[in-house]
Amino acid sequence: HVDTNKKRGVLIVIEGLDRSGKSTQAGALAARLAQSNVPAKLIKFPDRTTPIGKMIDAYLRSQSDLDDRAIHLLFSANRWELATSIERTLSEGTTIICDRYAFSGVVYSVSKGLPFSWCKSPDIGLPAPDLALFLDVSPEKARERGGYGEERYEKEEMQKRVRELFRKFVVREEDAEQRGDASKDDVTWVQIDAGRSLEDVKESIWREVQRVLEDAPRRPLRRLWV
Ligand code: TMP
Ligand code: MG
Repeated sequence: HVDTNKKRGVLIVIEGLDRSGKSTQAGALAARLAQSNVPAKLIKFPDRTTPIGKMIDAYLRSQSDLDDRAIHLLFSANRWELATSIERTLSEGTTIICDRYAFSGVVYSVSKGLPFSWCKSPDIGLPAPDLALFLDVSPEKARERGGYGEERYEKEEMQKRVRELFRKFVVREEDAEQRGDASKDDVTWVQIDAGRSLEDVKESIWREVQRVLEDAPRRPLRRLWV
């Protein structure tokens, strides 16, 4: 007898620029879910602990050089190596908060000049998020917060391109939704102004999360970009 009342977990992705407060907010959200007795797990991509993750880490710290396509595929492989465990966790009823996902994969590589559809293809079929939050912050705000770090993409020019591409991603989905376009990705995007105080950003995120916790478990988990 299958327990049809058991609710699946919800997949929540948090995307944004370096310095947008993503990791802080992801951590705060995990804590809040725990307080509310919602089983939740926090994961992040790249997961630098696996063998593939270690290659990515070396690349980001400029300890190795790789062709743009090769590193793109490694980032994707790093998600695929965890895909089964993500699905299992969700089906056991645990919600997942994921700090970066395939959308980072696409926008960072497109910023380097790779074609959009080529960049999406290796991630086709991954578990699709029920909610994708884009934490938007201006380069000025990022600078106020102490600027970027030392890693490969943490340069203002790159961050500006990445920001524009993230916003396009979100807008494209919203447009498709309004047109009732069947080719829509089925990913619900919410853009959050992450230039505000930590508390305000936390509250905005919590509102969206409460909504998705109500709705998403009734639907089956979807696949990304199929
Ligand atoms: P992190 O700062 O969140 O650890 O991410 C490291 C960098 O890797 C960040 O600049 C974004 C970039 N990135 C990609 O280029 N492709 C990807 O698929 C992911 C997940 C991150
Ligand atoms: Mg970073």
